[in-house]
Amino acid sequence: MSLPKAELHLHIEGTLEPELAFELATRNGLTLPYADTDELREAYRFEDLQSFLNLYYELMAVLRTERDFEDLANEYLERAAAQGVRHAEIFFDPQAHTSRGLELGTVVEGLWRALGDSESRHGVSTRLIMCFLRDESAESALATLHAAKPYLDRITGVGLDSAEVGHPPAKFREVYEAAAALGLRRVAHAGEEGPPEYITEALDVLGVERVDHGLRCVEDPALVERLVRERVPLTLCPLSNVRLRTVDTLADHPLPAMLDAGLMCTVHSDDPAYFGGYAGDNFDAVRDTLGLSEEQLRELARNSFLASFLEDDEELRAR
Ligand code: HPA
Ligand code: ZN
Repeated sequence: MSLPKAELHLHIEGTLEPELAFELATRNGLTLPYADTDELREAYRFEDLQSFLNLYYELMAVLRTERDFEDLANEYLERAAAQGVRHAEIFFDPQAHTSRGLELGTVVEGLWRALGDSESRHGVSTRLIMCFLRDESAESALATLHAAKPYLDRITGVGLDSAEVGHPPAKFREVYEAAAALGLRRVAHAGEEGPPEYITEALDVLGVERVDHGLRCVEDPALVERLVRERVPLTLCPLSNVRLRTVDTLADHPLPAMLDAGLMCTVHSDDPAYFGGYAGDNFDAVRDTLGLSEEQLRELARNSFLASFLEDDEELRAR
């Protein structure tokens, strides 16, 4: 689906396609524990978020140099542009790389080599959002924020991802306060596998402007009412929800009911190399399986620009 849209929920490490993983392994003299891309794809059968994260962190080992991050981002931006993405707010996981001995600068500068040229090369404007791993300590998140200070001209905001249950948003109160003081925008994953209370906490304790996933809000009618009233954007990822078994099948996805309830939903791809599709593929899937109307698809696309961190004039140009 080539409807112009903004991608607001995309982990750049989750765009590592098997072909590029093997190419980078060869380039860096590493051996992957899979015979070929077919065997690797066979491993993409996930039970839940954690079983996915195990493979996601394992495969990242092939990313070692600035050029690797540049190639990763360029391949992503080319695919995204072909599916109608005009603007992309891209998550990355600094701690997943610094814990392997990489410098934060290698990651940011490498990504920036692709992002800096993206408007002229791919017709896609970009922002970079640095995510903290919620299953690591709050001290590690604070140290990461501190280490990012030389790169803040390239980083628009902070996010929170990785294993959710048992790691409530409030654990990161201090680091989000420090991020806000530095002028950074704030988002967080909440209510993917974690309970609706985590969504409330992300809003009230972390001050987030968007909730990533937020799917489990549907279990709490008072919370839904609040999200509608406050027009809080929820960046949903339908194909991700199916692959990570957050919903049984795509036909069971609550997106139509969420739109009917008046929630400000947007649709995105999360980790497209692992979950079977990029932004346009997610739009196609909800149209074909959930029977969304053209008007509802246009509403989702319009919401994606409204919920973005673009300034008004940039937003009009991107649409
Ligand atoms: N959920 C939480 N953390 C993540 C994900 C996800 O789908 N992808 C990459 N990190
Ligand atoms: Zn995500």
